[in-house]
Amino acid sequence: MANRKIIIAGNWKMNKTPFEARCLAYEIAEKTEGAACDVVLCVPFVDLFQVKEAIAGSKIGLGAQNVHWAESGAFTGEISADMLVACDTQYVVIGHSERRQYFGETDATVNARTKAALAAGLKVILCVGETREERELNETNDVIERQVRLALADITAEQMANVIIAYEPVWAIGTGLTATAEQAQEVCAYIRSLIAELYNAEVADGTTIQYGGSMNAKNAAELLAMPDIDGGLIGGASLKPTDFLVIVAAGSAKASR
Ligand code: 13P
Repeated sequence: MANRKIIIAGNWKMNKTPFEARCLAYEIAEKTEGAACDVVLCVPFVDLFQVKEAIAGSKIGLGAQNVHWAESGAFTGEISADMLVACDTQYVVIGHSERRQYFGETDATVNARTKAALAAGLKVILCVGETREERELNETNDVIERQVRLALADITAEQMANVIIAYEPVWAIGTGLTATAEQAQEVCAYIRSLIAELYNAEVADGTTIQYGGSMNAKNAAELLAMPDIDGGLIGGASLKPTDFLVIVAAGSAKASR
């Protein structure tokens, strides 16, 4: 078994008021007490405090969904890495395809955010993935290579200990279309080979690579059975405790192997 963590992370996206978030996080914390894998909840900024309280004493990690690269300043509507750390946030999702698609996120801003987050001591869940058109044009590997290389520019081998990569094919997000386990494995293995090339085999072997995109209670075990899929970044199903717990159980089974 490779030397890396199995991490099941929920990305709640723009869902749940603070009160709703507290209830959901509390239920998940209670029911994942015995989990053998790591569990992380990436929640809206306004929910961080309530979720932090709800998961206190549990092994769940607290995550946000974006971070700005500057320390502070005139950036209306943005949140800095130090602010997240001050709220006891440990993880942050960066470069999600929804941010790339709707909010002008580029490879350069993904890199800037990643550097700032790592410098502040956060763990980064870095998202990469191709669109349906890019896959049909056989450009998947080129797109992934560009996204991984540019996102990790100037990130050291030591800092890679705090980087998790999430492979999220854009065509599979929120569509109910999941990449087959073989398709997901192929790209996750390719990402690992890129990390070996950019750093070395040890860093590649230690990097957690998640799959995301319509992962659910039915398909999680099959996806997680793949050798290079070390966890999941789950959207819709992470809002349904019963489904999320089944996915966490599949992650735990993998972690115990
Ligand atoms: P869904 O699980 O809803 O497809 O979302 C995946 C995702 O974007 C997680 O970041």
